[in-house]
Amino acid sequence: MKRLSAVFLIAVCVLLAAIAPAHSQRPRDVEQQINALLAKMTLAEKLGQLQQLDGEAGGNYRPEHVDLARKGLLGSTLNVRGAAKTNELQRIAVTESRLKIPLIFGFDVIHGYRTIFPIPLAEAASWDPSMAERTAAVAAQEANNAGLHWTFAPMLDIARDPRWGRITEGAGEDPFLGAAFAAARVRGFQGSDYSAPDKLVACAKHWVAYGDAEGGRDYNTTDLSENVLRQIYFPPFKAAVDAGVGTFMSSFNSINGVPASANRFTLTKVLREEWKFDGFVVSDYTSVKELINHGIAANEAEAAAKALNAGVDMEMVSRSYNQYGPRLVEQRQLSLATIDEAVRRILRIKYRLGLFEKPYADETREPGSLLRPESLRLAREAAAHSMVLLKNERNVLPLDKSVKSIAVIGPLADDRRSVLGPWAGDGRDENTVTILAGIKAAAPAQTKVSYAKGCDIKGDSDAGFGEAVALAKESDVALVFVGESDDMGGEAASRSSLDLPGRQMDLAKAIQATGKPTVVVLINSRPLTFGWIADNVPAILVAWMGGSQAGNAIADVLFGDVNPSGKLPVTFPRTVGQVPIYYNHLNTGRPPEAQNKYSSKYIDVPWTPQFPFGYGLSYTTFKVSNLQLSVPRIRVGDKLTVTVEVENTGKRAGDEVVQLYVRDPVASMSRPVKELKGFQRVALQPGEKKRVEFTLTRDALAFWNREMRFVVEPGEFDVMVGSNSQDVLEAKFAVVER
Ligand code: GLC
Repeated sequence: MKRLSAVFLIAVCVLLAAIAPAHSQRPRDVEQQINALLAKMTLAEKLGQLQQLDGEAGGNYRPEHVDLARKGLLGSTLNVRGAAKTNELQRIAVTESRLKIPLIFGFDVIHGYRTIFPIPLAEAASWDPSMAERTAAVAAQEANNAGLHWTFAPMLDIARDPRWGRITEGAGEDPFLGAAFAAARVRGFQGSDYSAPDKLVACAKHWVAYGDAEGGRDYNTTDLSENVLRQIYFPPFKAAVDAGVGTFMSSFNSINGVPASANRFTLTKVLREEWKFDGFVVSDYTSVKELINHGIAANEAEAAAKALNAGVDMEMVSRSYNQYGPRLVEQRQLSLATIDEAVRRILRIKYRLGLFEKPYADETREPGSLLRPESLRLAREAAAHSMVLLKNERNVLPLDKSVKSIAVIGPLADDRRSVLGPWAGDGRDENTVTILAGIKAAAPAQTKVSYAKGCDIKGDSDAGFGEAVALAKESDVALVFVGESDDMGGEAASRSSLDLPGRQMDLAKAIQATGKPTVVVLINSRPLTFGWIADNVPAILVAWMGGSQAGNAIADVLFGDVNPSGKLPVTFPRTVGQVPIYYNHLNTGRPPEAQNKYSSKYIDVPWTPQFPFGYGLSYTTFKVSNLQLSVPRIRVGDKLTVTVEVENTGKRAGDEVVQLYVRDPVASMSRPVKELKGFQRVALQPGEKKRVEFTLTRDALAFWNREMRFVVEPGEFDVMVGSNSQDVLEAKFAVVER
């Protein structure tokens, strides 16, 4: 018997060793190994670890990478992908170089690798961080099996200006919602141990305030107070650090005159000294060398010194560190200690990734890991749950399944690429379910589905209007798909207008003029302005750029198989002239009043948005009532419980996203008219009522004051709860000194 138990014990140990994450070393051991390795490294090898170089667009490495890897003078690549390719380059680094330090392979896995999920702004519209965690986990699983270790995501930039094309990559205008999605995405990409199979180390980007670019013009100047930095732009990044994010990326923009890639306040004082972040910071693409353009470095040597001394550990693509590092050390403009600390941080992440123990991808896993049925189902579910129903008069939607003929109109309805959105990873057009295909697949057998393009996305021709109008006239319902192409959003895609490009608005007007029931569906990467449609078309659905399964998801919502439950994560303005426009604004000394000429408003448009933050309808109706507070007053630091009742007063099951806002009406600084401090998605059957409870903690009431302390000031507070940021129930409570 004893022999049997011994054999059993050994078997269990072997099994545990096999399934244990590759990186099962204790932190102290890792630090000892790092220091031992550092002690062996030459200056050239240390500087090599600080260098990331770009692969070829198709995913191959470049010939010079082989030479550098062999000499131990390369730390990382971006865009090199595919298990066979990464293994080839990795094998050279870990078998032929002197110290055999593995490479870390990075790629922009922003909203999917081969299975493409909705753009992040769309996922934010689901107000379901758990969904984003699930999609990030699938993205990591596919990318890891394609030989990648590191994603340059999540993008955490708060954006209040939809002219900025990169608003598409984040979670919108609100710090609280942005922080929730930041943590969820980091958890999804990294899991609890990113050395485990199917995981990636994540990258909080772009640090920081990149979305505050003046004029919404990408890469432009940002100039904002430390209070606004801390109150609005930092929270998603702090949430990422609290969730254990392994890397950061410094941004292109200058912050109050000091470029983010040379900003010691953000890179060292906040990130290292206050937040104790111990991963590494990679620059953005050539943002180190661009310090010369910013005018704070006369040459690349100065740029290298400024960036490294400020806290940028790895240089993406430009080579200032490697080219000028030795001279800077000789001239004492750069210390070996600074270089060692940067190398230490990079090696720490490589150890935590388990790359020293398991440097290679298992090439047999890649084919079976892509586009799995369960991944596609998740993509379809995520896209459907991101859609926002803005209008539905006379219940035009959902489409009646007895409908005999449907006209599908618009250039985006048969476009395989645009619905994937910007930053579509390694997504392939051939894997996209187009909108037309999705509707044809979902429509009842006896329903005739016809298509007319009507016009191009851009361009002035209306030559196709006649065909589209004729088709609408002979159909029971007209579905008009308008919006942007994927290359009109994302990086270097700022727009001076938010109107529908080309002749799409005229196309929508021509179809509406037929008198047929008309539905407009937006395929967009940002808020757009479409006032005439908002005023005249009975049904409007924001479908965003929904990814590989966009067509099926849109059909699921249009036919009512999914009841839309999305809420806007960003304000939709009436006109670009209102921008920046956001819900958590200050009251001003003359808050807008229609009757009072001398108040803060425009003379040519209403001051209110077209659709407010947090807004979204459903195929059913909900009623929020009976707002109650646990107590009328609390002491500073105590918690307060807030409850409401939510009832489904309609005939269909549906989800409502109940939102809680707080206001501090009198404080030592002007405070926003409201700030999101809680939200809950509630599923309700027809007639069902549930009680929803929120707990307001100290952090929900605190703010960064003039002394730069995060404090709760005693006084009266307003609490507001509702189904969007405007339609709310209100109550008051007091905070008193302890
Ligand atoms: C780009 C982007 C950044 C991206 C990086 C690598 O310029 O600013 O978001 O991760 O370069 O592609």
